[in-house]
Amino acid sequence: MSIRLRKIPQDLPLKGKRVLIRIDGNVPIEKGRAVDGPHGRIARAAVDIDWLSQHGARVVVLTHLGRPNGRRKAAYSVAPIAKRLGSLLGTKIAVSRDLFGPRAERAVANLKDGQVLLLENMRFDPRETENDSTFAKSLAQLGDLYVNDAFSVSHRAHASLSALAHELPAFAGPLLANEINVLSQLEKNTKRPFVLLMGGLKIETKLPVIEHLSSQTDFVLLGGALATTFFVAQGKSVGRSVFDQEGVKLVNALPKQLLKKIILPEDVVVASSFRKDAKTKIVLVADIGSKDRIVDIGPKTREQFIKIISQAKTIVWNGPFGYCEIGSFCSGTRTVAQAIANRTGAAITIVGGGDTGPVLEKMKLSDQFSLQSTGGGALLEFLAGKTLPGLEYIRSRD
Ligand code: 3PG
Repeated sequence: MSIRLRKIPQDLPLKGKRVLIRIDGNVPIEKGRAVDGPHGRIARAAVDIDWLSQHGARVVVLTHLGRPNGRRKAAYSVAPIAKRLGSLLGTKIAVSRDLFGPRAERAVANLKDGQVLLLENMRFDPRETENDSTFAKSLAQLGDLYVNDAFSVSHRAHASLSALAHELPAFAGPLLANEINVLSQLEKNTKRPFVLLMGGLKIETKLPVIEHLSSQTDFVLLGGALATTFFVAQGKSVGRSVFDQEGVKLVNALPKQLLKKIILPEDVVVASSFRKDAKTKIVLVADIGSKDRIVDIGPKTREQFIKIISQAKTIVWNGPFGYCEIGSFCSGTRTVAQAIANRTGAAITIVGGGDTGPVLEKMKLSDQFSLQSTGGGALLEFLAGKTLPGLEYIRSRD
């Protein structure tokens, strides 16, 4: 889908303005620390927060963390996000326990030009996920302007993304605007061959993408549990491999024309268990044993995928091709990642998904693509042609 967003005008006076910026600080928290690398969600949002701050705005940052179900729970506090933001911005970031009301208003009123305040987890209030307009109106009391810089949660019709954008002059932040800009190129003049690569498990979120892009794609390369689901649909034995039982029906209902573009692995790495020390071997898909578990794509498949990738002009990739929780089962995914990165420049390369991010970060490849999207679910919904509620009130109307 190609859409145009209202960006922050270059000449918009920001000095002294209270700017509410919605970011997606939803990253894993381990031992009280936000797991966020140099290209992580918080690090990337920090660039725009810094930009606002440098222009003299009084920046009020909004985010969610996890799914606390509308209740205040210590484990979901944004304190680790404040710490990470503070270390990126080189200053201490205070957290307002209150999301709205007199105390939150006082905390905002005390901000000096360029200072940054983080509000507690938006999802501590049940009205956030209900897209409640009274909650949005209370939040709006804290700002003069609203910026959505959270593409990765814009598929949620939640108050701090949707209803709030209706209450204040609202704009797309640079991070979000850039993501939409690159993604919109897919619709405008897609350069062919267009190769779509999909791995991971959740088939119900991935088939709509494969179907929506079907008129543009030339090759659809599948791996991971997604491919295993296709094997099962073809009546093949997959031993003890993970696949999506419900997804088998969906695969069987796919149009024949589309199936022709789909390339499944011809060989795989199988293991006796999903453990680091498990015995592994390479087998053709036809030879998978009854106790085998598929943990990665095999060497022939890698070679074939690399060949197709090396001729592509447009590449979109979402989801790992093996069981990447264990490093040695991630080598097919790493090979594919490197092959895609090598094409950047000659091709538009777009990668995304929560599970691929850490792999790319480890390989130091995060900045080697036209776009490494911050989005998981949001990216898949956008690529499937769905309307994202968080983008509706920041669309350019001209
Ligand atoms: C994500 O991690 O994909 C976003 O932050 C959205 O989170 P959610 O699935 O809990 O809405």
